[in-house]
Amino acid sequence: MKLIIFSLSILTILLVSVSSDLASDRAALVALRSAVGGRSLLWNLSSSPCSWTGVNCSQNRVVELRLPGMGLSGQLPIAIGNLTQLQTLSLRFNALSGPIPSDFANLSSLRNLYLQGNAFSCEIPEFLFTLQNLIRLNLANNNFTGSISGSVNNLTRLGTLYLENNKLSGSIPDIGLASLVQFNVSFNQLNGSIPKALSGKPRSAFQGNSLCGKPLVSCDGSKDSDSKLSGGAIAGIVIGCVLVASLILILLICLCARRSGKKTEARDIAPAKQAEIEISGDNTSNGLSGGPKNDAKSNENKNMVIFRKASRVFDLDHLLKASAEVLGKGTFGTAYKASLDKRVAVVVKRLKDVTVSEKEFRAKMEVVGAMDHQNLVPVRAYYFSRDEKLLVYDYMPMGSLSALLHGNRGAGRTPLNWDTRSNIALGAARGIAYLHSKAPGFSHGNIKSSNILLTTSYEAHVSDFGLAQLARPGPTSTPNRVDGYRAPEVTDARKISQKADVYSFGVLLLELLTGKAPTHALTNDEGVDLPRWVQSVVREEWTAEVFDLELLRYQNVEEYMVQLLQIAINCTAQYPDKRPAMEEVTSQIEELCRSSNQKNIDK
Ligand SMILES: *[C@@H]1O[C@H](CO)[C@@H](O)[C@H](O)[C@H]1NC(C)=O
Ligand SMILES: *[C@@H]1O[C@H](CO)[C@@H](O)[C@H](O)[C@H]1NC(C)=O
Ligand SMILES: *[C@@H]1O[C@H](CO)[C@@H](O)[C@H](O)[C@H]1NC(C)=O
Ligand SMILES: *[C@@H]1O[C@H](CO)[C@@H](O)[C@H](O)[C@H]1NC(C)=O
Ligand SMILES: *[C@@H]1O[C@H](CO)[C@@H](O)[C@H](O)[C@H]1NC(C)=O
Ligand SMILES: *[C@@H]1O[C@H](CO)[C@@H](O)[C@H](O)[C@H]1NC(C)=O
Ligand SMILES: *[C@@H]1O[C@H](CO)[C@@H](O)[C@H](O)[C@H]1NC(C)=O
Ligand SMILES: *[C@@H]1O[C@H](CO)[C@@H](O)[C@H](O)[C@H]1NC(C)=O
Repeated sequence: MKLIIFSLSILTILLVSVSSDLASDRAALVALRSAVGGRSLLWNLSSSPCSWTGVNCSQNRVVELRLPGMGLSGQLPIAIGNLTQLQTLSLRFNALSGPIPSDFANLSSLRNLYLQGNAFSCEIPEFLFTLQNLIRLNLANNNFTGSISGSVNNLTRLGTLYLENNKLSGSIPDIGLASLVQFNVSFNQLNGSIPKALSGKPRSAFQGNSLCGKPLVSCDGSKDSDSKLSGGAIAGIVIGCVLVASLILILLICLCARRSGKKTEARDIAPAKQAEIEISGDNTSNGLSGGPKNDAKSNENKNMVIFRKASRVFDLDHLLKASAEVLGKGTFGTAYKASLDKRVAVVVKRLKDVTVSEKEFRAKMEVVGAMDHQNLVPVRAYYFSRDEKLLVYDYMPMGSLSALLHGNRGAGRTPLNWDTRSNIALGAARGIAYLHSKAPGFSHGNIKSSNILLTTSYEAHVSDFGLAQLARPGPTSTPNRVDGYRAPEVTDARKISQKADVYSFGVLLLELLTGKAPTHALTNDEGVDLPRWVQSVVREEWTAEVFDLELLRYQNVEEYMVQLLQIAINCTAQYPDKRPAMEEVTSQIEELCRSSNQKNIDK
């Protein structure tokens, strides 16, 4: 009996201590919140802290706290040190300042510490190097001063040490950690020589300091060895100079040649080349002419159905006489630019492999032709005959989002900023949401960045909608690219749905955020299966590394980037019924654009 009472009391003590630990974690989190604010920390204080945004528990203790880009500001209070089971702490991209508080010394389970992108100052405290479990330490883009402690070597599991863009001075200690894979101390005030053990790291990891030694220039003044030059060396230098000069000349010539050709290259899906549109292979001189003979022309014009007049009236005759230029081979056929006169151009899309009957085609085109919204590229007209199926669209001179994102990545490229990208996302979302709302069950079927065309003010117009149910994708289209956008449940390209559109749109958002082109995971293309890649990276707490480098320079909007990323991840859920409707996605992006514009105005 005594024994039972004894064990019961032990059990109660255990229970009490377990719940009081979570209570202590809770108290620490509440203290943190009231000290650094953050209007985004809408924690429901009457529910368990484990359900709060950014908090993750294991065995009734807080093990992860991730509050990236939450607008936290001010100095960290003495509080986080009470979360003694914490393994991951991420406070990156906030506006926190002051020193790292001393109670961090008690975070002995900490594995990942992400404090980059704040305004932390003072020295990097020595006690950080007593946290034996640390694997990733990112203190980059802060205001840390002082030197880098040699005690770094005590962290035997350390894999990442990012210290770039601080005010660290002195020399780099002899860091000999075999585990260290990622290392960066660039843009500090470090001097002296780079330790041998780090000489294998890339040059860019050391730039912006007064350092010397491998991989940078050698430390012993190279002037000494240069003072006595042999004749052979001089000859070598002269030859070298001549070679370099001619190389530069060749490069310049190449660059100039490319410049002149750049305009079309960046805009078009494929390099544009002048070509005549020859229909049904008849050997007639006219660009678009051919097919039925001239005596059947009245018949041809009957086959031409015009939905809405362009700023200029045109009929088939005009198209036939137009000078044409190949714009590119798309999924369902080749697109040509037909210039009706100097100012007016239209795009003529020639469908290959139309799989439906004439009646079905015409019925479907009636639906497609009725679609009219400012974020769509409307169908102006179509032409249907036995041999030819043509669609006529407005010409969009700025080309596609795909060309804008992936074309001309080298020097001279204008970076695509957050405002432009988020507005493109919003425009595309509105266009697609309109398609979904206009006709029951209507879906685009082929959402991808090369089908998002842009006006000169970078307004997004969705094109090519409704073609997936009319035609079979041609063999000349790039199937891998298409597959990269295709929802996992879609096995037949014609059996599409609105939820499959939402998936493709999610991939498009990921493409906008990461700058990476999606391809199917099974292909060995240079692209990636974006949803899977992003999910794996985000799970490993590398969110910042997901984003396009061009976006990372806009740190004040990281919060919104993370929000858009979350929307994209929701859209690319594996199961269709887990994906939100396009209308909901659109209003979320609207809200996000509104807040981020407001923030820019406030600044
Ligand atoms: C942290 O824990 C100590 C000791 O248990 C306690 O006195 C202190 O109030 C706690 N701090 C916070 C912010 O919860
Ligand atoms: C907060 O949590 C409690 C308990 O879980 C719940 O009843 C309440 O509705 C929640 N309040 C809000 C605003 O979500
Ligand atoms: C919490 O952490 C576990 C293990 O790391 C992970 O599987 C789970 O997805 C996390 N939950 C949340 C809400 O982040
Ligand atoms: C670490 O925790 C111990 C025991 O809870 C406590 O006495 C000590 O003050 C803490 N250290 C710091 C720096 O807060
Ligand atoms: C870093 O500190 C200096 C003064 O020491 C201050 O002028 C500067 O604004 C700080 N930088 C940041 C990012 O807080
Ligand atoms: C690192 O290890 C060395 C040698 O064991 C020890 O002298 C030093 O105090 C340690 N540094 C820290 C910060 O624990
Ligand atoms: C590095 O800079 C410090 C001052 O910041 C100076 O005292 C020291 O001599 C310098 N060391 C070398 C090797 O130049
Ligand atoms: C180091 O950081 C700088 C500045 O952010 C960056 O330009 C460079 O590419 C980085 N290098 C490595 C190897 O991480």
